[in-house]
Amino acid sequence: MIRTHPTWIEINLSAVASNCANIIRDTDTPLMAIVKGDAYGHGAVEVSRAAMAGGASWLGVARFGEARVLRQNGIDAPILVLGMITPNEVDEAIASNVTLTLHSLETLQLFSARARAAHQTVSAHLKVDTGMGRLGVFAEEIVSFARQAQAAGGIYIDGMYSHLAAAEVTHPLNEMQYQRFDMAVRAMEESSFRPRWVHLANSFAAFYQPQCRYNMVRVGNVILGLRIRINQPLPEYYLPVLRWKAQLASCRLLPAGWNVSYGANYITPHEELIGVIPVGYGDGLRGLPGNQIIIDGIKSPVVGRVRLDQLMVRLPHPYPMGEEIVIIGQQGDSSIWVHDLAALYQISQVDFTTLIHRRVPRIYI
Ligand SMILES: Cc1ncc(COP(=O)(O)O)c(C=O)c1O
Repeated sequence: MIRTHPTWIEINLSAVASNCANIIRDTDTPLMAIVKGDAYGHGAVEVSRAAMAGGASWLGVARFGEARVLRQNGIDAPILVLGMITPNEVDEAIASNVTLTLHSLETLQLFSARARAAHQTVSAHLKVDTGMGRLGVFAEEIVSFARQAQAAGGIYIDGMYSHLAAAEVTHPLNEMQYQRFDMAVRAMEESSFRPRWVHLANSFAAFYQPQCRYNMVRVGNVILGLRIRINQPLPEYYLPVLRWKAQLASCRLLPAGWNVSYGANYITPHEELIGVIPVGYGDGLRGLPGNQIIIDGIKSPVVGRVRLDQLMVRLPHPYPMGEEIVIIGQQGDSSIWVHDLAALYQISQVDFTTLIHRRVPRIYI
C-alpha cells in the first residue's frame, strides 16, 4: 500500500505489456501503440516502454512535441506523428528519425524542401481521408499525390493509413471508409507504390473488423485495458491498468440537520458518519450525482458538493485517518472502473483519463 500521498494513481505497466502481447496474438497483426495525450493521461514514456516490452512495433503520437519527449527519454522505436507538425519542428523531426504524416500538398512541399536542404530523407505515412473529414487526401487522389511526393524528392513513403470515424459495427460509414481505403491501397499497389505499412484499424476495428487490420493495428484504449464499448467487457485476460486511490482525511459523526460542503445542498437527515476524501474536481473527478467511492470493500455515496480539493461521503462505520479509499479499482467484492465513471458522466473513457490532473501523482507498478 502506498501511503506517501493524499491521493494517487497507480499504473500497472505489466498489464500494459500483457495487453499489448494479447492484442498482437488476438489480431495476429503488428501493433502501433497509440500513446498520444500522454498515453491518455497514463504517462507516455512509461506506457511506451511497457508497450514495446509487450511487443509493440511502433508508437503513435499526435504532435511532434510528444515524439520529442519519447526520444529524449531514450525511446528509439519507430514513432509516427499522426497530427500537425509545425515548420519549426520539421528539421528536428528529420534529425531524430521520427515518421511524419503526409496529408496535403503543403506538408509535401514542406517535408521535401527541408529534407533536401539537409541532404536527408524524411520518412512519411500518407494519410487518406476516407470519411473522417479531418487530415488527408481523398482516395482517388492518392496515386497522383504519391507520384508528386516521389518527384519532389527527399520523402520516403513508408506507410499509408486512414482513421475510422464510427466505432459501431452497424454504422454504414465503417464499411464505406473501409471500401475507400481499400480502393486507395489497391490503386497504390497497381501503380507499384504499395508502402511497407498499411493501417486503418483502431481498437474497435482491430477487434470487430478484421478486414481493416492490413499489416498494422493502431490501438490506444485496449493497451490501457479500457473497454472498446463501455457496456461490453473485454476478454478477462485484458487487464485494467489504472487505479485511483486516496487516504481518508477525516471521519466524524455529524449531528442531524448539519450542513455538508458548499452551497448547503446536503443537510444530514439524522446523525451521520461523514468522511472527508482529499480528492475533488481539481483532480479531474466530476461533481455529478451518483458518485461513489469504495472503503473497506463497501461502496459509499458522495454527499454534498464535490469541490476543488475535497469531497465528502456517508460512511457505514467509523474509520481512522489514512484508511485506503478506492476511487477507481477494486477492493473486496466492490469495484468501480473507468468505464463505470465514463458511463455515469456520459463521456468517453479517454475523456475521463486524460482529464485526471497532473497534481495526482502517477505511481508506476
Ligand atoms: C489516428 C488514430 N489512430 C488510432 C487511435 C487509437 O484509437 P483507440 O484508442 O480507439 O484504439 C487514435 C485515437 O484517437 C487515432 O487518432
